[in-house]
Amino acid sequence: MTENDFIPKAYTHLPEKGKVGWKAPSNIALVKYWGKKTNQIPANPSISFTLDACATQTQVTFTKKEDSKDFSFDLLFEGKPKEDFKPKIKTFLERIEPYLPFLKKYHFVIETSNSFPHSSGIASSASGMSALALCLLSVENKIQPMAPDFFNKKASFLARLGSGSACRSIEGDLVQWGKHEGIETSSELYGVKYPFDVNPIFKNYHDTILLVHKGQKQVSSSVGHNLMHDHPYAEKRFEQAHSNLDKLKPILGEGNLEAFMELVESEALTLHAMMMTSMPYFILMMPDTLEIINKLWRFRKETKVPICFTLDAGANVHVLYPESVKEKAIQFIQDELVAHCENGHYICDRIGTGAKQLFEE
Ligand code: DP6
Repeated sequence: MTENDFIPKAYTHLPEKGKVGWKAPSNIALVKYWGKKTNQIPANPSISFTLDACATQTQVTFTKKEDSKDFSFDLLFEGKPKEDFKPKIKTFLERIEPYLPFLKKYHFVIETSNSFPHSSGIASSASGMSALALCLLSVENKIQPMAPDFFNKKASFLARLGSGSACRSIEGDLVQWGKHEGIETSSELYGVKYPFDVNPIFKNYHDTILLVHKGQKQVSSSVGHNLMHDHPYAEKRFEQAHSNLDKLKPILGEGNLEAFMELVESEALTLHAMMMTSMPYFILMMPDTLEIINKLWRFRKETKVPICFTLDAGANVHVLYPESVKEKAIQFIQDELVAHCENGHYICDRIGTGAKQLFEE
């Protein structure tokens, strides 16, 4: 498919008004997307676990307006007007307008809330942009109904234009994005459900997110991605992501936890190594991030409990483990790791099944 396949045919009728709502989850990458080309095309393929508890709920009320010169919308975040989010939403609307040509014909009221702190290193842009993309696409679906499979592809395609990783937040439970030779259905334009067998051990996988630092990040992901241009190690890193995706196939199929933990932790540290070797260089990990990693490694060595970590573009630590060791892992987290979280805060999440429509009126 190409971008042009997402341009709809001319609308024959536009409803006067309506309201739609979606809940979309966050996701945590196992093989990381870091570096992009123009139009939100990833420099390398990535794969993620879709999450469950960390999510954004968005509802969009739309009312037909007289002139269609510009976009018109109000934005409410957790019930209150949020002016500083508006430029990002406007840029998003501009990018997706060719694919949703009704956007200037309506006034929208966008009401959104998160189940987790904004800019905490949890991909709030992923759940936020996917929830909004789904709402706007639901409006188009009322104007011109589309097949469910196409709906998911287009929702992912639109979400990607808001934030790259958001395209992996439409479906569950494992989603791959970016062209990769070994995955025939893969695309630069949207995320696809991972097409290969996955061992049941990964079916109920846990992700306990340790909130080491809840404030605004020092360097945004967009700036970080850009620093991969002219990065001395970029090409090798992009090759490595392809090779790690190939390696994951038997690991996920056989349920090889040892190899899984090694690959996932290496991906997390490579991501941060790219940040540290950018020019200008930067560090998003904090002393408590490293304390957690060291304690986790020691615990794993001593107890053989298969618990590992990954990192997003931030200081927080995602602790990953299978359902079978849930009690031991939670006990360890509470006894040893929570002390390193800001105000003792952490979120118990697990692998999820994707976005859900809340209503449509
Ligand atoms: C480290 O998707 O937030 O979480 O496309 O600029 O919005 P933009 O970037 P974003 O980058 C996420 C990077 C990451 C790794 C990943 O999720 O794959």
